[in-house]
Amino acid sequence: MKFAYFAFAMILASFGKPTDKTEQENPNWQNTHAGIWKATIGQPGEVNLLNVAGIQPKAEALEKLGVTNFPLDQQEIKAEVRGGKTYLQLPLDRGELIYGLGLNFKNVHQRGKIYRLHVDHYGGRDNGRTHAPVPFYVSSKGYGVLINAAKYIDVYVGTGVRKDSKTPANPQDRNTDKSWSAAPYSDIVEVVIPEEGVEVIMFSGANVQQVVQRYNLYCGGGYLPPKWGLGFWQRTPTLYSDADVEREVDEFKTHNFPLDVIGLEPGWQSKSYPCTFEWDEGRYPNPGKFIGQMKDKGVRTNLWLNPYVSPEGSLYKKIEPYTGTHTVWNGIVPDFMTKKGSETMGTHFNRELLDVGVSGFKIDEVDGFDQWVWPDNASFPSGLDGETMRQVYGLLVQKWSAALYKARNERTYGLVRASNAGASSFPYVIYNDYYKHEDFITALINSSFTGTLWTPEVRKSGTEEEWLRRMQTVCFSPMAMINAWADGTKPWSFPEVYAQCQEVAFLRMRLLPYIYSTFAKYYFEGIPPFRAMVMEEGFLDPGEEAATDLSSDKNPYAIAVKKEIKDQYMMGESILVAPLFLGQQKRQVVLPEGNWYDFYSGEFVGNGEVIEIEPGLDKIPLFVKDGAIIPMMESIRQTSEWKENMALEARVYGEIDGKFELYDDDGETFDYQTGKYSIKELSAKEGKGRVKNVKGNGPWSYGEVSWSFMTK
Ligand code: GAL
Repeated sequence: MKFAYFAFAMILASFGKPTDKTEQENPNWQNTHAGIWKATIGQPGEVNLLNVAGIQPKAEALEKLGVTNFPLDQQEIKAEVRGGKTYLQLPLDRGELIYGLGLNFKNVHQRGKIYRLHVDHYGGRDNGRTHAPVPFYVSSKGYGVLINAAKYIDVYVGTGVRKDSKTPANPQDRNTDKSWSAAPYSDIVEVVIPEEGVEVIMFSGANVQQVVQRYNLYCGGGYLPPKWGLGFWQRTPTLYSDADVEREVDEFKTHNFPLDVIGLEPGWQSKSYPCTFEWDEGRYPNPGKFIGQMKDKGVRTNLWLNPYVSPEGSLYKKIEPYTGTHTVWNGIVPDFMTKKGSETMGTHFNRELLDVGVSGFKIDEVDGFDQWVWPDNASFPSGLDGETMRQVYGLLVQKWSAALYKARNERTYGLVRASNAGASSFPYVIYNDYYKHEDFITALINSSFTGTLWTPEVRKSGTEEEWLRRMQTVCFSPMAMINAWADGTKPWSFPEVYAQCQEVAFLRMRLLPYIYSTFAKYYFEGIPPFRAMVMEEGFLDPGEEAATDLSSDKNPYAIAVKKEIKDQYMMGESILVAPLFLGQQKRQVVLPEGNWYDFYSGEFVGNGEVIEIEPGLDKIPLFVKDGAIIPMMESIRQTSEWKENMALEARVYGEIDGKFELYDDDGETFDYQTGKYSIKELSAKEGKGRVKNVKGNGPWSYGEVSWSFMTK
């Protein structure tokens, strides 16, 4: 097939025919797993996102999701290789909505957008330049498309109008027709890949969530963080010494505020920007002792770094042969595609950092900016060009560093500023320097379509109101963290709202059994822990014209119509989070079908409708589904206190009989991957709760369960 195509192309070329007359072909889809198909078009580049990430599909979990039909009409998917590029066309239906295409900050609906997917620091506009420009989109019709190429990819999401369109819109006269639009109806997604071929993967699903589950499972399943990773994080000012950090850790205790991880910023190193990855002898004369003392206080240590190697460190000479042509801030750039380069970095990191007890890293500056990182014409010893390396560097540093911890059978959890497709199983959360609170929440929602995690980290605030609103959302995210590297803020920086900050941080701690079980579902089933409303059963996306009868005043979504839902999300299977932002007293909440209840009071709030709430400043609004059981642990400040026999309160909401699968394991090793875990089912019926073994007889840290029936 491939040969025939090439022969055909050669003949065309030899006759000097115009190159735009090449054939469009229907790709040949091969079923790889239940509900997943792959097509290879032309001659794809050797390096692609998924082979760099080294994904290992979870075949068994994929089988469990069941067999489905190919989700689109194969005749309507076309591909063509022309002039060194590959062009793809995929159909769109009227009313179909598109999600995904990377970690976007402004929009959740992607139809009508044009992106050049390019790893970069987010610059305030959704244009494809972002930390994780994952070339994967998900349709409201229940399928997803991954363009597995490590290049800058152009995607026109329902903007182009072809002459041969099957559903052409009529031309309109702008002189007389007020409904004339500069963006006429388009029924197609078009993609340009600057390579002579590409691999495309199609995922199907009964709904949006299932498509994403298949994608995550194909990429190896989600990551299960260590328990300590889900506690509270504080990153300290850049030039803090060991004594400063110790004082700060003690202050968390005197203030009675949760703390599991302390993050050291650039000043832990003897030199930074570029980095030595060696401790500064003045600020940290005895790193092993310091980290040991931190552990004794129940605190893990996470280290900031960027991977650019300083000429002033001992690593420089050793790593030099495995670095690219260009420098970043005069530091050399390790090529993690080379085995020797990765090993050299690994040896240094193990000796200087992991052996002394460092629990993980914050890997900075691997996204951009253009002025700082290598240009596209750079080259690397592995043969990668600058463009490809830009697209995959975030994946490479994640894979490399994750393997260092895996080899020790120790789970890590850290931060990274660049990622791409194939990252679901990596132990990293994305963050950035941008700071618009509303957009941070939209990014959290969008991360669920990209197989990545995102933290709306808290840095500084103009007012106590903003501080509290930010603290509330970060406690309902994959990583609850203050990043005080520049501002030195602490949870108690705004004393007027300290009690409320403390309350929400302890609420997160109490919810850890629920959150940890939610992450287990990410690992085992590929379900994103924090996710867009559209993944919720019973949720009708107001943008979906076809399904929305707007004329009916019974339509609960009518008032929210055309509104993109980018300010509310699900945490786990039962909790709907509806945050407020600075200056906001009221907000609307779109409740999916089914009865919903207030988390705090247990009162009924609505069913398949848009409600308006005016909750006051103190609490983050949380709503819970009918039949939900929310396991909450006794209040602890640090996960080091999460030992055996933890008292559990199971909160039961609503009227229907519900259940919850409570997951547990040792919380810090990978032993769960070989079956050392336990799952027990909490269920409630007619005012009585019960606990039943479901699976495994691994570690179990809970004792007595008390039942609170919240809905009277
Ligand atoms: C930035 C990073 C910040 C902080 C700072 C330290 O690039 O995004 O969070 O770590 O570097 O210099």
